[in-house]
Amino acid sequence: MILEKAFYNPFLIHSTDVMIDLLTDSGTSAMSSNQWAGIMQGDESYAGSPSFFRFEKTIQDITGFPLVIPTHQGRAAEKILFSILGGKGKYIVSNTLFDTTRANIEFSGAEGIDLICEEGKHPTVPAPFKGNMDVEALKTFIAQKGAANIPICIITITNNSGGGQPVSMQNIKDVKKICTENNIPLFIDACRFAENAYFIKLREKEYAYRSVQEIARELFSYADGCTMSAKKDAFANIGGFLAMRNEELAQQCRNLLIMTEGFPTYGGLAGRDLEAIAIGLHEVMDEHYLHYRIRSIEYLTNKLIAAGVPVMQPAGGHAVYLVANEFLSHIPVEQYPGQALVGALYLHGGIRTVEIGSLMFGKYNDDGKLIPPIGTGSPGHS
Ligand SMILES: Cc1ncc(COP(=O)(O)O)c(C=O)c1O
Repeated sequence: MILEKAFYNPFLIHSTDVMIDLLTDSGTSAMSSNQWAGIMQGDESYAGSPSFFRFEKTIQDITGFPLVIPTHQGRAAEKILFSILGGKGKYIVSNTLFDTTRANIEFSGAEGIDLICEEGKHPTVPAPFKGNMDVEALKTFIAQKGAANIPICIITITNNSGGGQPVSMQNIKDVKKICTENNIPLFIDACRFAENAYFIKLREKEYAYRSVQEIARELFSYADGCTMSAKKDAFANIGGFLAMRNEELAQQCRNLLIMTEGFPTYGGLAGRDLEAIAIGLHEVMDEHYLHYRIRSIEYLTNKLIAAGVPVMQPAGGHAVYLVANEFLSHIPVEQYPGQALVGALYLHGGIRTVEIGSLMFGKYNDDGKLIPPIGTGSPGHS
C-alpha cells in the first residue's frame, strides 16, 4: 500500500514509514559532540566571518588548494563548475560520473564520458582498485575527440556509482600525466576522499606507513581542483565546496556563486555549517573511525556472500551493492531487476534502498529500447 502510493519510488516514501533506511549516506551522519560545539560557535556575520576563515584554512591544509568556495551541496559546486567549463561539443571524462555530476554536465550541453577500468566492469570479481580510470581508453578518447574539446577530467573518489570502489594513487598519477601532456585540468570529486585515502593505505604497499592526512594531501597534489559534498566525508547534514588553484577560474566561479548561492565567504551555508564541516573534515581522517566504517561494510558484504547473495566485491567503503540482475536473474533487464529488488526489500523488511543501474543510468535508442549502462544489463553485471 505504502509502496503503491509512492509509485514504487523509494524517494517518495515518508521516512517515518521506513524501518531501516539505507537510501544514502548523504547528510545522514550523526555529528560528533565537537561538531555540535562548533555549531554553537558559528559566527553569522554576512561577510568575512571567522567561521569561513576556519573552513577555508582547513580545506587549504587538507587539499593544498589555495582557493576555496563554499556551496550548499556538492551539486551546487558541480553546477557552477560545469556551467563555466561545459557546453555543447565538449566532453567531460571521468572514471564514473555520479548522477548529479552527469546531470550538470549534460545540462550544460556537454557529454559526460565514463572510462572505467576493465576490473570495474565485473562487479562480483574482486580487485583492489576497481574505481580506477582506464588510462589507455583515456589516451584513445583524447586522440579521437581532440584535447581542445575536453575542458576537464574529473575522477570520483571513491567511485560511488561504480560500487564505492577506490582509485589508486598510481592511477591518479597516470591520469595526471596524460592530462598534463594534453593540457586538460584534472579535478577530483572528493566526496569520500578519506575513505579512498584509507583504501590506498591498506592496498598500495608504499603507503602502508603514511597517515591518511599525508595520503590525501599527496592525492590532491596531482589535481587542479576538487568539488565536494560535505554531506559525506565531512559528516555534515548540509554543505559542499569547490577548491582550486586557478585564480581566473575561481573568479568566474565566485561570480556565478553570488547569483545563486550567496557571498563567497558563506556560499549558501550558515556560519555554523562552515564550523561543523571544518571539524568533520579533520575527524573523518581518524583511522580508527575509517577502520570501523570499512569493516562494517565488509561485515555485511561477507554475510551476504555467505548467504549466496551476489554482491559487488570487494566491499566498498560506504555502501553494500547487491548485483540485482544476478540475484533476480528471472527478471529481464528491461524490467529493471534493481528496482524490483528495491521494492522487495521494502516489502519484506521495511528496508529502504536505492537502485544504481538501468533505471538511474540507462539510455534508450531511437526505438525506445533500453541501453543498460556499462557494468549492468548483462549476466554477471549489476
Ligand atoms: C560521488 C558524489 N558526487 C557528488 C554528489 C552530490 O552531492 P550532493 O548530494 O551534496 O549534491 C554525491 C552525492 O551522493 C556523490 O556521491
